[in-house]
Amino acid sequence: MARERWGSRIGIVMAVAGSAIGLGNFLRFPVQAAQNGGGAFMIPYFVALLLLGLPLMWVEWTVGRFGGGFGHSTAPGVFHTLWNKNRFIKYFGVIGIFGPIVIYIYYVYIESWLLGYSLFALSGAYAKCADERSMAAFLHSYQGVANNEFFSGMGAAYWFFLLTFGMNALVVYFGIQGGIETVCKWGLPILFLLAIALAVRVFALGAPDPARPDWNVANGLGFLWNPPDWRALTDAKVWLAAAGQIFFTLSVGIGVILTYASYLTKKDDVALSGLSAAMTNEVAEVILGGSIVIPAALAFLGPDGIAKVATGGSFNLGFVTMPLVLQKTAMGNIFGFCWFALLFIAGITSSVSLAQPAVAFLEDEFGFTKKKAVLIFALGTFVLCHGPILFLEHGVLDELDFWAVNFCLVFFALVEALLFAWVFGIEGAWTELHVGSDISIPRFYRFIIKYITPAFLVAILGYWLYQDGIDVLLLKRGAYSAGPIAPADLPYVIGTRILLLALFAFLAVCVWIVWRRRAKETAA
Ligand code: PFF
Repeated sequence: MARERWGSRIGIVMAVAGSAIGLGNFLRFPVQAAQNGGGAFMIPYFVALLLLGLPLMWVEWTVGRFGGGFGHSTAPGVFHTLWNKNRFIKYFGVIGIFGPIVIYIYYVYIESWLLGYSLFALSGAYAKCADERSMAAFLHSYQGVANNEFFSGMGAAYWFFLLTFGMNALVVYFGIQGGIETVCKWGLPILFLLAIALAVRVFALGAPDPARPDWNVANGLGFLWNPPDWRALTDAKVWLAAAGQIFFTLSVGIGVILTYASYLTKKDDVALSGLSAAMTNEVAEVILGGSIVIPAALAFLGPDGIAKVATGGSFNLGFVTMPLVLQKTAMGNIFGFCWFALLFIAGITSSVSLAQPAVAFLEDEFGFTKKKAVLIFALGTFVLCHGPILFLEHGVLDELDFWAVNFCLVFFALVEALLFAWVFGIEGAWTELHVGSDISIPRFYRFIIKYITPAFLVAILGYWLYQDGIDVLLLKRGAYSAGPIAPADLPYVIGTRILLLALFAFLAVCVWIVWRRRAKETAA
């Protein structure tokens, strides 16, 4: 069977940019910036973009295209072709399927809230929530974690989940070109238009409260762009947060872009395409993402208010503050709709990329048809999604996010970088990166990719283990809380971990079976 291919150059750039531009740009970025000192966050952020994000982008595109040439679309096969003398490397590649699945099972659920909220904005369902408290109560009621003041049970949330889940499966079923490329080619321009409209709307807010003239949009922009408090740069936590954000927002270091790039042909450029996709994401994150939530929140809550809201939970700025702010403006329900629709589009173009590695693995390595592969993937993830859906208040979602983003992403990135620069060898790797390339990357990036990127990754991983990893692993404290895990949540946290280990083991066994079968076939 012929391998699937992208329809056009712009198609794959849009697809990778679509994967990159997601909830991370509009929800996670503002929260990270607000929690880590605003402007002080931006310096480590750009350093991480140049020393980690861009190099890994190029590594994944190159390695993916290379592996695609051998008929592999996922990391186990791709890593094996890069280092076929090593029997174990394919099991490290399992993270490139496992990590995306783990993110997928909570990401799709959050995405479905956005579909629900876009309709609620239009229908005025949350219109009577006039303050933070009642808007938060609306969210919790929708999620089914508290009171049923607004929703009786989580029926509505579940329906929107089913709808969103079905849409994702359908896009992946229609394939690389017919599904993913098409959705991204339409979705991305719409997303940019919505974001521009919202940014303009926010800029027009000026200083909404005459009694507090310095609570204004300009100061909101200044929150990110004024010269920072330099002392914050000595805080390793800020660096860790910045690096984590770069990984998450660019979708690098988890195997997704590797899979997308495997559908390129040998002659297709990767250097310029990778750069373009990364830069498109940065425009969406820093320019658009940075011009909506933070300025709007500062104008209404003031500088202390933002930090407080941001520490109150990752969804507060997006699901509580933004709808409240937009509701206070003329045509508030239309702008509310634009906000949630924008996020939903950003979400779906990302979640389909998280589904693709597992589906591609079933197709390539087991020889299943697309239909069968999507069906198996959908059934498996459908069951798994119920963890975060049913046990949201017990920290299951946080637990999944913590291990996927803080650990898998960084660890997998390190394996990739080492394979590329040290096993494949930087000479050959550099040549491979420039095959069919439309630009030549400055030579100092050879040095960066070989030494700086891996060293940076080791430092992040080491510091993270010391600072968070070990304590969380030993259940001394919760994934994202400073305090201990509540006794009521403990069984759920442990249950989630057992499930994660079982999922990893299951995927590793699949890889083992595939390779054993292949070895037998070649021997016969
Ligand atoms: N980059 C996406 C975002 O910013 O929301 C999230 C994401 C998608 C992370 C795909 C990782 C990934 F493989």
